[in-house]
Amino acid sequence: MKALILSGGKGTRLRPLTHTMAKQLVPVAGKPILGYVLDHIAEAEIRDVGVIISPETGEEVRRYLGTGRRWGVKIKYILQEEPLGLAHAVVTARDFLGESNFVMYLGDNLLRYGVKGARKRFETERPDALIYLKEVDNPKQFGVAELKKDGSIKRLIEKPSRPPSNLALVGVYIFSNRIHEAIARIKPSRRGELEITDAIQELINMGYTVKSEILDGWWLDTGKKDDLLQANTIVLDEYITTSIKGRVDAASDIVGRVDIMSGTKIKNSRLRGPIKIGRNTVIENSFIGPYTSIGEGVEIRDSVIEHAVILDNAVIQGIERLEDSLIGRGARVVKNRSQHKAYRLMIGDDTVVEV
Ligand code: TTP
Repeated sequence: MKALILSGGKGTRLRPLTHTMAKQLVPVAGKPILGYVLDHIAEAEIRDVGVIISPETGEEVRRYLGTGRRWGVKIKYILQEEPLGLAHAVVTARDFLGESNFVMYLGDNLLRYGVKGARKRFETERPDALIYLKEVDNPKQFGVAELKKDGSIKRLIEKPSRPPSNLALVGVYIFSNRIHEAIARIKPSRRGELEITDAIQELINMGYTVKSEILDGWWLDTGKKDDLLQANTIVLDEYITTSIKGRVDAASDIVGRVDIMSGTKIKNSRLRGPIKIGRNTVIENSFIGPYTSIGEGVEIRDSVIEHAVILDNAVIQGIERLEDSLIGRGARVVKNRSQHKAYRLMIGDDTVVEV
């Protein structure tokens, strides 16, 4: 069994962050999403890992994952020149995949439980595809499955205008080598992409076995701001334990689970967990509320922050209340203290500011 992790794509829905970084590297509770994906691959005892990268963000992905030794896996990087679809990524990885069965894992998806159980089931029952399904509130935005009475799959449709069910395809799949045959028979969709949903439908049309499993536990697609904040909330809730390696002065007080890394200073502030704070950050005269992740080298002064993700080297100063926000690397959000009341902005492309 091999693994193929998709870490290319355009990431348009997470702009402006994705103008300068790979969306799969955005940290959730202080750890890049790809890190959780690799944890799951390693836990399923898969050693041969192909990672699809794009020309824009490939270097950054490589820098983070390296050879894969940290996870006990061997990584081969595969450049996809253009993001022409999930099935196109499989075509691009054809040499790496050979005739092996493989787990395909979208690099911006997070699952509560990994793929160990699914791998076992695939190897016991030997279908040509094993897909995960999850009930969602907004099936129009996903690939959707229609099931037969016996629970097997009748058909799959990508982003249907009239969804036949609320069962969405999760971004993790296991395939046999027959998927290549199916992909060779499909055409690009209306949005110009070779869709993996169409390829799985083609497997069904060709009479091959496609099995499904309703996913236990949460599944988070982190491709948009609110989804990313939700992922941060859930992961902080589940995984954060108290660990204080930084310095907290006597005037500060901490309640709940808070993880503060070394070199960080908390002065005259109140922290209410779960919170994750990276290295060499300063928090002064502030209130940090639950479900907040703060990166490295951040400065927060005279501010109130809750339910937010603040990336490395950002500066937040004099902000009365900042909520439900995603602040990019090196961004500055500061109160203008002059008499003349005005917003003074220097904002990157595709930024959203709600005042
Ligand atoms: P998507 O989120 O569907 O696509 P995208 O990254 O282009 O994002 P957006 O719609 O916001 O523009 O992709 C799911 C995952 O698969 C993501 O980790 C990127 C990756 N991917 C590839 O590696 N190659 C591709 O051709 C595509 C479409 C996606």
